[in-house]
Amino acid sequence: MTSKEKKPKISIIGLGFVGLSIAVTNAKKGFETIGVDIDDNKISNLKKGIIPFYEPKLQNFLDDTLKADSLKFTADLKYALLNSDLSFLCVGTPPAKDGKIDLRYIKSAAKKIQKFLKLKEKYHLLVVKSTVAPQTTQNVIIPMFKDMINKSLVDIVTNPEFLREGSAIEDILHPHLIVIGEYDRKAGKHLEGYYKQFYKTLPEIIHTDITSAELIKYANNTFLATKISFINSLANICQNLPGTDINTIAKAIGKDPRIGPLFLQAGPGFGGSCLPKDLSALINFSNKFEKTNELFKAVLRVNQNQPVKIIELLKKFNVLKKNKTISILGLAFKKDTDDIRAAVSIKITKLLLKKGLKIKVYDPMAMDNFRDLFKEKIIYCSSIDECLRDSDCCLILTEWDSFRKLKPEKFKKLMKTPNVIDARRILDPKKFSGINFKAVGLGNEKK
Ligand code: UGA
Repeated sequence: MTSKEKKPKISIIGLGFVGLSIAVTNAKKGFETIGVDIDDNKISNLKKGIIPFYEPKLQNFLDDTLKADSLKFTADLKYALLNSDLSFLCVGTPPAKDGKIDLRYIKSAAKKIQKFLKLKEKYHLLVVKSTVAPQTTQNVIIPMFKDMINKSLVDIVTNPEFLREGSAIEDILHPHLIVIGEYDRKAGKHLEGYYKQFYKTLPEIIHTDITSAELIKYANNTFLATKISFINSLANICQNLPGTDINTIAKAIGKDPRIGPLFLQAGPGFGGSCLPKDLSALINFSNKFEKTNELFKAVLRVNQNQPVKIIELLKKFNVLKKNKTISILGLAFKKDTDDIRAAVSIKITKLLLKKGLKIKVYDPMAMDNFRDLFKEKIIYCSSIDECLRDSDCCLILTEWDSFRKLKPEKFKKLMKTPNVIDARRILDPKKFSGINFKAVGLGNEKK
């Protein structure tokens, strides 16, 4: 496929956060696109333009592409495969209990794809986007398609995704890199040809073997997790050193080009559906290779303990008592999403409930998801003010822009006692010196 050739027809198998974002951007770029999912309810909602989660720009892209008729949705995998040339396999690979990933969905999807592609006489490119443990594509998926690959009717490549929740569409439109895992150049070139049609200026592409591409995905997320656990470890030291501030330290070391400024924001620990899951999966996968994963285990341990460090800050205000009320601002695992998967807010809420505290919560987007989880055990507020009113301590857990603008006067006016803990470092400590203020990585005031 070259840029002058006819655009391939695309199918996206699995319409979770990654699959749906890829589907709408392909359709927006003028590729005839079919999104397919086994969830009939999701499909019927998507046909009506209803998205099952919040992601900036997604709704606009969906509305536009449905109107332009460039995006179709179906639960019929056979139809999707027979009417497309290239499929992105985006089904979920959720964590299993032991930290491994659960391959059930991807195996079952691959089996069905194999069955239907057999009915096709034209070439089909299957692109594995789902995050899978190294060697899964080689040992589990490719063998199912061996005959078709030998007859040059099918090729399989791996193509890990680096998009972030909250900026998924932008990340697809402007990736820093494309990684193509291939067993031969011809297979990889097919995918490169598609990308030449997708992008006006082709982003950098690294071609590699299939298993390295799978490992690159884990390496990427594990390195990001490592940076966060590193800075959080230092932040916990700062809290014991009067006058120090982790933000200044992060700023200083971030200027060293060998370190870089990103992902050095101290906080309550990383959450979401990716970093914790991928770190655990890499640890589990590498357990079989002696002493290869000590660093990764430490990164995970630091993260698991970080919410406890936040509770220690609460202790300093002497509010961990039965009759006290804690207001939590921010439930989503980061801003600009309603996702609470592995969010620190869950762990902290559970810890506080155990201590018998009254908990009030507010988040601009994630209230419904949190309500599904905690039901009537906590109080759900419809505004920041309502959440702060008559409370003994406010804990900020997500870096929403609306929280960044908060002034000390508001806390003073509304709360029973203006105790504030900024677990995201979004408030200026100098401006908050008039109230009881503590923050992650902020040393106590010099005596
Ligand atoms: C992450 C990666 O950043 C993406 O590149 C990757 O494609 C994606 O996982 C995936 O595997 O699908 P995401 O889970 O959307 O993306 O979230 P991040 O922006 O990486 O944030 C993860 C967590 O780390 C959040 O809880 C965030 O608040 C926290 N974080 C991030 C910090 O505590 N400090 C930082 O400096 C940065």
